[in-house]
Amino acid sequence: MSKTSEWLVSFNSNYQKHIEGIISERKKSRREMMTISVTGGKGGVGKTSVSLKIAKDLADSGAKVLLIDCDYNLSNTAIKLGLPIQNTFYSLVTAEKQFDECLYKDGSFHLLSACNGSLDLFDSQFKLEELIIDVVNEHGHEYDYIVLDCPAGLQRESITLNAYCDKRVVVVTPDRSSITDSYSLMKVLAMKFGIKENHLLVNMTSSKSQYNRVVKTLSETVENFLGCRTQILGGIPRLNVSASEFDSTFLNLGKNDHQKIFLKVISKLTEELGSPKIEEVVLTPKSHGHCEQEVQIFNA
Ligand SMILES: Nc1ncnc2c1ncn2[C@@H]1O[C@H](COP(=O)(O)OP(=O)(O)O)[C@@H](O)[C@H]1O
Ligand SMILES: [Mg+2]
Repeated sequence: MSKTSEWLVSFNSNYQKHIEGIISERKKSRREMMTISVTGGKGGVGKTSVSLKIAKDLADSGAKVLLIDCDYNLSNTAIKLGLPIQNTFYSLVTAEKQFDECLYKDGSFHLLSACNGSLDLFDSQFKLEELIIDVVNEHGHEYDYIVLDCPAGLQRESITLNAYCDKRVVVVTPDRSSITDSYSLMKVLAMKFGIKENHLLVNMTSSKSQYNRVVKTLSETVENFLGCRTQILGGIPRLNVSASEFDSTFLNLGKNDHQKIFLKVISKLTEELGSPKIEEVVLTPKSHGHCEQEVQIFNA
């Protein structure tokens, strides 16, 4: 595995100048494999559950899918699948194990899980974004989709991974802090990385009108202040099950209404890429994103 991906070398050497060119170049030379990050800024909004659901449903539809748990020391993907907790991710970081030895495989669904409170990983100086981008570069040709379950927060490493992906699924709940955090995430992506398009998934909705309100407020603010487009994936109603039942219920929805919603989400998400091309997006942000007051809109 090469130590540092070319993308990051370019990124670090002259970030402001190169970033849009690098991303658009990468999109032009894109293989058929699609990278999708599941993100959102705030914790507890359903990012990991949605990542697993998207990855599993894609695999069930016949695609070969790799889910990478990027919450590298608070990994939840294996827990939600009821798998034993292992810290094999650390062995990948130290190159003691090969990528393939660190995978959990269930048919065409592969999972690169991460660590849970590993002190070794905590002490190590590894760069998450470099490791993940190198995995994608080296093994992307083996998959149809690579899904990244991103950690909460606005750390540069996860923002970089979001910018690197072909598509970003921003998971938001009707909670005002979640809406504000997801806006902040899209703002940093737009202003620092030139990312002008994101997909929005509203989780834990309690009514259609609430869903509509979240979509309208967030997408209009993102368009008006950042000049970004928001592709709406849909809304997932709050499941009325106990915490202990949630994971298995969410991942095995059968043929109910929730599953129908997810089928639509998957079909919208897997639509062909390429429109709009990044270099063709014309931006007319009202504030150029420098206004720090726009988040007040969410609290009005
Ligand atoms: N649609 C939903 N309905 C009910 N509870 C949900 C829903 N989505 C998520 N949750 C609850 O939120 C918890 C946190 O979800 P998780 O996917 O771990 O969030 P994140 O990865 O964003 O921190 C879940 O364990 C579950 O209890
Ligand atoms: Mg999570």
